Amino acid sequence: MKTPPLRVLAVESSCDETAAAVVANGREILSSVIASQVDLHAQFGGVYPEIASREHIKAVYAVVNEALQQAHLELGDVDGIAVTRGPGLAGSLVVGANMAKALAMSVDLPIIGVNHLEGHIYSSWLYAGGSAPTPEPKFPLVALLVSGGHTELILMREHLTYQRLGGTVDDAAGEAFDKVARLLDLPYPGGPSIQKAAQEGSPRAFNFPKARLSEPFNFSFSGVKTAVLRTVQDLRAQGKTLPIGDLAASFQAAVVSALYEKTMDAARQFGAQDIIVAGGVSANKALREAFRSQTQFKVHIPHISLCTDNAAMIAAAGYQHLARGERDNLDFDVLPTWYLTALV
Ligand SMILES: Nc1ncnc2c1ncn2[C@@H]1O[C@H](COP(=O)(O)OP(=O)(O)OP(=O)(O)O)[C@@H](O)[C@H]1O
Ligand SMILES: [Mg+2]
Repeated sequence: MKTPPLRVLAVESSCDETAAAVVANGREILSSVIASQVDLHAQFGGVYPEIASREHIKAVYAVVNEALQQAHLELGDVDGIAVTRGPGLAGSLVVGANMAKALAMSVDLPIIGVNHLEGHIYSSWLYAGGSAPTPEPKFPLVALLVSGGHTELILMREHLTYQRLGGTVDDAAGEAFDKVARLLDLPYPGGPSIQKAAQEGSPRAFNFPKARLSEPFNFSFSGVKTAVLRTVQDLRAQGKTLPIGDLAASFQAAVVSALYEKTMDAARQFGAQDIIVAGGVSANKALREAFRSQTQFKVHIPHISLCTDNAAMIAAAGYQHLARGERDNLDFDVLPTWYLTALV
């Protein structure tokens, strides 16, 4: 790569968002464009893989062009290409990977395939173009990764090194939000719907149980989901109207308190300087407030627009690899399953 500013163009297409972005020095967002398919998939109550990959094909060229235009750059001005290699839907990943390979080949740029979860973590390094840089996360740090498919507690002692402290033994936190929303007849995606409904209810209306687990940093959300289901069934059997706000607020409080308490415990036990909270569920207001209400650790939570899938986070992670001289060959395959971490 050239000397600074190192501008990385990234493509993300692992699920139902087609995204492209240009980021300078792994931190400053010069552009970030997202074409979401969420409305298309809402009718199925989840992502329909075959439709997702075909929508990526239609959108990816325009999204990449838009990202370059918004950054006021030509492809030749870029120093490297990053693309989500996995985990995700195979057919969707292939579309982004092939676009990124074509871009790299056409102007002979280095390319790197990035782990999507690593991207979520590196969203904490990003700041808006033209504004003052935000403080960089300091190591060692504990990262809580809470998304639609993952719930992981990770210890990072330095850049690009990940030790898994624990994670969910059943549903991911985002998945639990989505399933409980469906139970309460709230629209997809469930996280934002539950958050909205919870504003009208009390987090103390129902006492949903916390999971007891032998491993201190593991999570389980299937128990709380079943408790909501039983409560709904009982109320319906009694012919009562469902107190949607109370159910949503109490469920949200149970999930937030498990996530918050275990992350704080892990940060204390491993002597962390900072905490990172990332992934789609980090957009949750109650979760953000829980972490912001404490003063023991500096907590980095991405701007709401960077919590769910985007390409700026892939550029931020890709930059770290490219700056270390790592490159992929143009024949790399996508990795629909790709674990980020080894167990401590
Ligand atoms: N405000 C919110 N409160 C709670 N959950 C939310 C909120 N906003 C989004 N989510 C949840 O975040 C998830 C989407 O996050 P994200 O886009 O990171 O997941 P994904 O990319 O599908 O999964 P992964 O990153 O694990 O592959 C969904 O489950 C959604 O319900
Ligand atoms: Mg994601």
